[in-house]
Amino acid sequence: MIDVAKIRKNFPILTREVNGKPLVYLDNAATSQTPTQVIDVIVDYYTNYNANIHRGVHSLSQEATDAYEQARAKVQQHFNIAKPYEVILTSGTTHSINIVASGFTRLLKKGDELLVSAMEHHSNIVPWQMLCERTGAILKVIPMNEQGELEMKVYHKLLSNKTKFVFCNHISNALGTINPIEEIINAAHEVGAAVLVDGAQAAPHVKADMQKLDVDFYTVSAHKICGPTGVGMLYGKEEWLAKLPPYQGGGEMITEVTFEKTTYADLPHKFEAGTPNICGGIAFGAALDYINAIGLKNIAAYENELLEYATTKLLGIEGLKIYGTAANKTSVISFNIEGMHPYDIGSILDKLGVAVRTGHHCAQPIMDFYKIPGTVRASFSFYNTKEEVDVLVASVEKARAMLS
Ligand code: ALA
Repeated sequence: MIDVAKIRKNFPILTREVNGKPLVYLDNAATSQTPTQVIDVIVDYYTNYNANIHRGVHSLSQEATDAYEQARAKVQQHFNIAKPYEVILTSGTTHSINIVASGFTRLLKKGDELLVSAMEHHSNIVPWQMLCERTGAILKVIPMNEQGELEMKVYHKLLSNKTKFVFCNHISNALGTINPIEEIINAAHEVGAAVLVDGAQAAPHVKADMQKLDVDFYTVSAHKICGPTGVGMLYGKEEWLAKLPPYQGGGEMITEVTFEKTTYADLPHKFEAGTPNICGGIAFGAALDYINAIGLKNIAAYENELLEYATTKLLGIEGLKIYGTAANKTSVISFNIEGMHPYDIGSILDKLGVAVRTGHHCAQPIMDFYKIPGTVRASFSFYNTKEEVDVLVASVEKARAMLS
């Protein structure tokens, strides 16, 4: 059980008004709000020990380095990662995926096959298309059904000894579907293919255990899990990270530089060129502390209650259709009302203080599948309440009446 009233006191932004109405923030899949426990860590860093890391002998630099490496250790522990240097701190999921896609250029040849799920965010499609352009590899799609679930029988048929890599999100940002990643990983490994799971939407809802999953790569953005923007994780198995070349050249990622030759640093620094988002990394660690103090199991149980409550209430609205009705889904509801454009509904909701995302949610192939321009997406977090769901439902009713 979680004490939502107490938790809401940690989020000062939730007390503000928007367009003269109390804010009802239901755009958590785009970015989560930041608790004072994390904001305080950011203020403390810039107030007391802002310095560059891994470089100076001076005390401030040492303090900042220790805090940054402690944050890496927190990420390692949270995701049950075997070795600290398998945690690459990046600017977020997009950066993480691009490191891997760029690195695989050398490891693929013409005719190799890559499988991507039909419900990916563009950040888990476009880098692989670019990789295919560079290498002549072929991108094939694991289809989904009307409920927004992957067609696993087709997936198993698509796998062959030509398959070199499989990409899939753990949870769909547009539909909320929780994908059967254990089955996806195990089957891919049977044919010798690697797997990258985009965990951006999963991190705030479920605990992913890297050793148990035996996944090859897993990516996370801190801002989806109460941390700041501009920082995230690339987890990679040591044997893969060792095979991949550096993504960017620069300071910090080298062992020795002469004009004749440069040798690269060991993991994780090989992939961490330049001054990183030091404060962001430290705050990422603080965000994980915050989430773990509440407990992801408690969070998921409460968010499920909100999901069920909101689903039932929204389906009571005439003409409303929900996209993404998978048996296993998280607290994301994508919907449209017959004859109305999602953008118009979203704009009216905003006037009423309700923040939702509208559009294709950076997942155009899903919208093409349903033959729609986009959806209205309400995504719930553990600091939302049933009263806020009631405001959403009343506001959608109002929008429907205005647009009829
Ligand atoms: N990927 C983020 C979303 O789904 C931005 O809204």
